[in-house]
Amino acid sequence: MDERTTPEFAVRAIGLTKKYPRGEGEFLALSNVDLTVERGEFVAIMGASGSGKSTMLHLIAGLTRPTSGEVELEGVKIGKMGDRALTIFRRRRIGIVFQSYNLIPHLTAEENILFPLRADGRRLDATTMAKLRAFWSELELSEQLGQYPDSLSGGQQQRVALARALCSDPVALLADEPTGNLDWTAGQAICRIFDRLNREEARTILLVTHEPAVAVWAKRIVVLRDGEIVGDFPRSEVGDASELAARYQELARVSRSV
Ligand SMILES: Nc1ncnc2c1ncn2[C@@H]1O[C@H](COP(=O)(O)OP(=O)(O)OP(=O)(O)O)[C@@H](O)[C@H]1O
Ligand SMILES: [Mg+2]
Repeated sequence: MDERTTPEFAVRAIGLTKKYPRGEGEFLALSNVDLTVERGEFVAIMGASGSGKSTMLHLIAGLTRPTSGEVELEGVKIGKMGDRALTIFRRRRIGIVFQSYNLIPHLTAEENILFPLRADGRRLDATTMAKLRAFWSELELSEQLGQYPDSLSGGQQQRVALARALCSDPVALLADEPTGNLDWTAGQAICRIFDRLNREEARTILLVTHEPAVAVWAKRIVVLRDGEIVGDFPRSEVGDASELAARYQELARVSRSV
C-alpha cells in the first residue's frame, strides 16, 4: 500500500495563518498555528467568540484557503489541489457538521443523508444500505427517514446532518458548535454519539465548542485565543466540566497584549 495514504496522523496543520481584509488593513484571524491530530483522537477546540475556532476548522476542511501555511489530511496536502479537486476530496473524505444543520429543505431525511454519495455517483448496494440503516437506527432516526427537515426537531436534524457527514467514512469528523442550537438534553445526546464513534469506531473527531460541558467529552483540549493556540492538554488533566471551565477561562481570557 502507498505509505503516503496511511500516515499516523489524520490531520496536520503547519503554520496555518488566515488574514481577512478589515477596513483599510487586515485582521489576523489565525496566526501561525501548528496542530497534529493522530488517527482516532477526539479533540475539542475551545476559545472565546472571535478567537478563530471556525476559521481554523474551515481551513482544515478546505472550505477556506489559508493566507499561508498548509493542511494535510492523511498525508494529502489539500492546498495543492485546485478548487474542483478539493470539492470532490471534501465530499469523499471529510465529514462536516455545523451549528445550523444545513439540510436541504426539499429533500427527506434519507435523501439528505445520501445526497453526498449520490452526488458522487456512488451505487448503493444492499450491504451498504443495510450498514447505513443500522447506523441510522442507532441514531434513532429510523422513524424519521421519510420526513422533511422542517418537521424534525433540532436534535433530529443534527443527527441527520451527522449521518450525512459520516456516510462517506471520512478521514475526520469536523464539527463546528454542533450543539450550539440544541437544548441540554439534545446536546448531550450528540456528545454521547461522538463519544461512541470515537471509542468504538476509533473515529477521528475535531469538535469546536465554547461549552466546557461539551468539550469535556473529548480526550484532548486545544484552546485558542486571538488566533493562537494557548493551551493543548489531555482531557484527563481536568476532572470534570467545571474544572475544565476554570482552566479554559484562565487560558482564554488573557488578551494578546498582556
Ligand atoms: N469572512 C470573514 N471576513 C472578515 N473577517 C472574518 C471572516 N470570518 C471571520 N472573520 C473574523 O475573524 C475572527 C475569527 O472568527 P471566527 O469565526 O473564526 O471566530 P470563532 O472563534 O469561530 O467565533 P464564534 O465563537 O463567535 O463562532 C473574528 O474576529 C471574525 O470577525
Ligand atoms: Mg465560530
